Amino acid sequence: MNALATTLTNKLASLTHRTFAYTQSEPFAVDSKFAHASDVQLATKDLNVYINGAHILKNVSVQIPKNKITCIIGPSGCGKSTLLRTFNRLNDGVDGLKMDGEVTLGNDNILTANSGQLSELRRNIGLVPQRPCPLPMNIYDNVAYGCRIHGIHNRKKLDAIVKHYLNAVGLWDEVKDRLKTPAARMSGGQQQRLCLARSLAVEPSYLLADESTSALDPISSKKVEQLFTELKKDYSIVMVTHTLRQALRIADYVIFMYLGEVIEVGNAHDVFDNPQHELTRRYLNGAFS
Ligand SMILES: Nc1ncnc2c1ncn2[C@@H]1O[C@H](COP(=O)(O)OP(=O)(O)O)[C@@H](O)[C@H]1O
Ligand SMILES: [Mg+2]
Repeated sequence: MNALATTLTNKLASLTHRTFAYTQSEPFAVDSKFAHASDVQLATKDLNVYINGAHILKNVSVQIPKNKITCIIGPSGCGKSTLLRTFNRLNDGVDGLKMDGEVTLGNDNILTANSGQLSELRRNIGLVPQRPCPLPMNIYDNVAYGCRIHGIHNRKKLDAIVKHYLNAVGLWDEVKDRLKTPAARMSGGQQQRLCLARSLAVEPSYLLADESTSALDPISSKKVEQLFTELKKDYSIVMVTHTLRQALRIADYVIFMYLGEVIEVGNAHDVFDNPQHELTRRYLNGAFS
């Protein structure tokens, strides 16, 4: 039986919707203080973020729907990345940062999570970065990295996990004969899919992506985009998109921000076809970007 799937399935019956099934035997050894996010909602309420006194996020209240792609859109500097990064506390290291309000996963307050909880939180809410950032190690070890941190060392299990997630991102056939070569030798598009495989290998429920295709060529970008649309049956995805066109192609749900405020949220076709707010209308018409 699959270590990841076994534990999570034991913990939460809701994981049975997962289609990624491979075989392992031991439970996934994490000290979980958080309920699994497939059961619970990721949300913010009256969230304010200040950096050195500047009010960066203003009373942001959003709920992230499950098994959908939520795109955060809005002009440059409006706070998209800052909002995305609050979901797994990646702003913590920013000098002069203050936050109030709530960021919650079900009943758990992300803003007050201790370091043990934070580690589990970040496993559960994975981040796909803007630029491909493979770890300075070989392809195999990149995918196995998080699993090892979470206590999986059995070679056969790791082999199965690595194969499974490289397959999930469409890389297995491309790299199966060079798993021990440095990840840095892969193309940019391959590296980004590898980073996605690394995020997926620890079985998150949410995936955060910040302009994750912006550094890729158009073909690689389309591949990653397609992957996200396939992955949403198993994951809830929050994307900051670098182009409105990309949001139009893949968003199910949209959060439109302007100057640190959430102006409009809703199903993508409602927001795109019939925006309620003048600012949204102007942004969609290209009045500013
Ligand atoms: N580390 C930081 N120090 C100071 N200001 C920051 C920092 N990070 C972000 N900001 C400011 O916060 C605002 C929102 O930034 P960001 O969330 O990156 O916007 P977006 O992703 O929408 O382009 C911007 O005005 C930016 O200059
Ligand atoms: Mg940004």
